[in-house]
Order: sequence, then structure tokens, then C-alpha cells
Amino acid sequence: MGSSQDAPRAVVPEHLLKGQKALVTGANSGIGKATAIALGKAGADVVVNYVTGREDAEAVVEEITSHGVRALAHEADVSDEGQVAAMMEHTVQEFGTLDILVANAGLQRDAPFTEMTLAQWQKVLDVNLTGQFLCAREAAKVFLRRGVVPEVSRAAGKIICMSSVHQIIPWSGHVNYAASKGGVQMMMETLAQELAPKKIRVNAIAPGAIKTPINRDAWQTPEAEKDLLRLIPYDRVGDPDDIAHAAVALASDLMDYVVGATLYVDGGMTLFPGFATGG
Ligand code: BGC
Repeated sequence: MGSSQDAPRAVVPEHLLKGQKALVTGANSGIGKATAIALGKAGADVVVNYVTGREDAEAVVEEITSHGVRALAHEADVSDEGQVAAMMEHTVQEFGTLDILVANAGLQRDAPFTEMTLAQWQKVLDVNLTGQFLCAREAAKVFLRRGVVPEVSRAAGKIICMSSVHQIIPWSGHVNYAASKGGVQMMMETLAQELAPKKIRVNAIAPGAIKTPINRDAWQTPEAEKDLLRLIPYDRVGDPDDIAHAAVALASDLMDYVVGATLYVDGGMTLFPGFATGG
């Protein structure tokens, strides 16, 4: 009970994103890595952004290219305006254009509130929120310049913001992270409203507990995992492919009428599991 990691996985449709160009930030590990690979499996060429861990990023590139599409690794700090602009320029230079941005890069710097330093607060806001702002802005410029190419997609571009269940679930000891994700929600919805008339679809995915390095302590031991499962009605901790598959679907024309939505991919974590009994 609790884990179905060995269960058969869904298969990514190979041609769903054929001919599209994608950029995934923070794609050298965790959710970003799985998403970059899944986009490649679906036929997209993929830029694998990373800030540290060049070898991991190169390994992701290798795995993506084994599916017969192009991929390249690009080092950039998403919170640095110049580096983001240079990354977009490189992407357009290499792939000609961009169709899909997955603004995924994110981190945690946890501390009880009165012990949280300004540096911890700032770092998380810089990467998780400002980083998405900068990447979305540069991507939107490319989408607007090019417009819709009907053979490629019904939309002029797709932006997927990686949020979290903590865009609505308050989280003690993580005020910087929860505030950044609350910000991502309103940024995403505002961008969706502003850009929809230009045929740019902006949406978010809000993952719950997914087995990645960011939350290893929460699932690594059987005791920790058991504790975590109390918060997950579906009774398994998610894995990165759960999010990657949602991202592929959301980026595709199967979801062309989905605009400004947050897709919660959380095994029911946002369903107030504490109320399953009592209340
Ligand atoms: C956090 C994880 C956490 C999960 C559920 C994610 O956004 O990054 O550390 O396990 O939310 O609480």
C-alpha cells in the first residue's frame, strides 16, 4: 500500500508535440528533468536549462536526443535578467523559435518565521517568482513576434508555470516558499488574462508531494512516507512523471481551450484530507 512505483506507466503519445520547441527551466533534476524528457518523447525539441549540475543536464540532453529530437543544455540563473535574455536568444538561434515554456526552476530555503533571514526570503522569491516572471516575459516576446503557425499549434505559445499545492495551502516554516507560490498563482492568472487575446495560453500545474530531491526528508524513510501519506487521499507519493505527463497534455492542443487554469496534480492533497473523518 502507498506505493505503486512498479505499476505500469502511461505512455506519452509520440507525435503530440511534433515540431514544437520547448524550454524547461531547472531541467537537470526532479520534475523539470522528467518534464523535459516527456516533452522530447512527445516530439518536441527541448532546451534543458540548469544553473548548477552541468553533467546532469548533459545526461538529460542525451536521453532526450535518443528519442530522435534535438536537445541542448543551457546554463542560466533564471533570476538574472541578462542571463534569461541570453538563454532565449540562444534558444531562438538554435531552434528558430519557441512554442512552449515550462517555468519550473524553484527551490526551498526553510526556516521558522522569526529565524528566517532576509537572504532566505529573497532567494526564494527571486528564483520561484521573479525567475518565472523573467522567463515568461522573454518567451511571450518570442510568441508575439511569431504569432500562430497553424501547422504547429492552435496557440501562438504556451506557458506552464510550475506552482505548488502551497499556492493555496499555508505552510508553517516555509513562508517564503508559500508566498512565492501564492504569487505564482496570481501572476499566472494575470498573464493568462493579458495574453489570451494574443492566443498565448498561460496555465499552471500545482504538484503535491512528488518524490524529488527538494523534499527527500518527507518520503525517504518508511516512517516519513507513512506520515506523508496521511495527507494524500490517493495513498501514494507522486513521482516526477505524474507532473511531466500533465505538462505534456497541458502544452498540447488537446488542452487548447484551457486558459488561466491551475491543474492540481496532488493525489487529492488539496481536498482537506483531515476532514475525511470528523468535521
Ligand atoms: C514542496 C515539497 C512538498 C510538497 C507538498 C511542494 O511544493 O516543494 O517540499 O513536499 O509541496 O507539501
